Amino acid sequence: MPGSVLPEREFRFHDRQPDLPDAMAEVVTGLSRSAKTVPPKYFYDATGSRLFDDITRLPEYYLTRTEVGIMRENREDMARAVGDRACLVEYGSGSSEKIRILLEACRPAAYVPVDISRAHLLQSARAIYEDYDWLAVHPTCADYSRPFALPDIASALPCVAFFPGSSIGNFDPADVPGFLAAVGAVVGRGGRLIVGVDAKKDADVLHAAYNDGAGVTEAFNLNLLKHLNDLLDADFDPARFEHQAEYNPARGRIEMYLASTATQSVRLNGAEIAFDTGERIHTESSYKYDPDEFLELAGAAGFVQQRMWTDERGYFMVLLLEYAG
Ligand SMILES: C[S@@+](CC[C@H](N)C(=O)[O-])C[C@H]1O[C@@H](n2cnc3c(N)ncnc32)[C@H](O)[C@@H]1O
Repeated sequence: MPGSVLPEREFRFHDRQPDLPDAMAEVVTGLSRSAKTVPPKYFYDATGSRLFDDITRLPEYYLTRTEVGIMRENREDMARAVGDRACLVEYGSGSSEKIRILLEACRPAAYVPVDISRAHLLQSARAIYEDYDWLAVHPTCADYSRPFALPDIASALPCVAFFPGSSIGNFDPADVPGFLAAVGAVVGRGGRLIVGVDAKKDADVLHAAYNDGAGVTEAFNLNLLKHLNDLLDADFDPARFEHQAEYNPARGRIEMYLASTATQSVRLNGAEIAFDTGERIHTESSYKYDPDEFLELAGAAGFVQQRMWTDERGYFMVLLLEYAG
């Protein structure tokens, strides 16, 4: 029965090797489609993680500021939902900044940050371990869009899941219930998930957030090609692609693309991919939800709403959900 014995305080890294061996097949399959795609997880090498952190500080990028504001204002309520002996599992933990708001207000026994970006994960998790001298920290490098094994500590304690940053918006809506059901299996019946969801809003506000004036989102998008060059021995020339991001109101999502500025072909470890001028790679969708739309998807996975916190403008929502199984 989880929860009886507090774990030893330790820092232990668990590497589930998410970049091997499927990346080549996944990327070539996506680039061989008539509408070319590469999943957004390939943004995140060490440079991509650093560029994402830069994005969070941009004036146009309201998401991080708004979510952090909501969390600060409601942190006592959120902390009560986490409790003092839980294992806090954070999906896509990145720089592990938002978790600090919760850690100032409650005392989970263990923190399991899960992220695909190995070096950034290790650095951020180490900083948490040093700053909170009562907390066991188990960074886990894994791809959360596929089944993966959490460390044993997650079965030894009751788990609470945390999924901030509107990263749930990167899943196709049809895939959200499947992902949330996997989270439900981790937290168990009666267990909790705190999830940050970006709301539908004025298209100009959305457009600006993904087309910043300083060009950081452009650099972040183009860095995906450099990451593929390193990971798959490819020869993309980022100078021959351009960043595009647009809001698709019919689908309620920002769509991010890399458009080829020339007719060209690119090699990936033996495979050859041809591009026409103007042909695009779809690199990310970022779905925006009305509360009811999201709650319906969560409900299909067995989660019910306990609380919803939002900001004055209704730009962003942080939901506390309970797994009913
Ligand atoms: C949009 S950032 C959000 C970072 C942070 N949670 C925040 O709220 O600011 C997404 C994070 O999830 C990680 N990530 C993206 N796709 C992933 C996947 N399939 N598996 C594991 N981590 C992933 C990235 O490395 C990155 O740190």
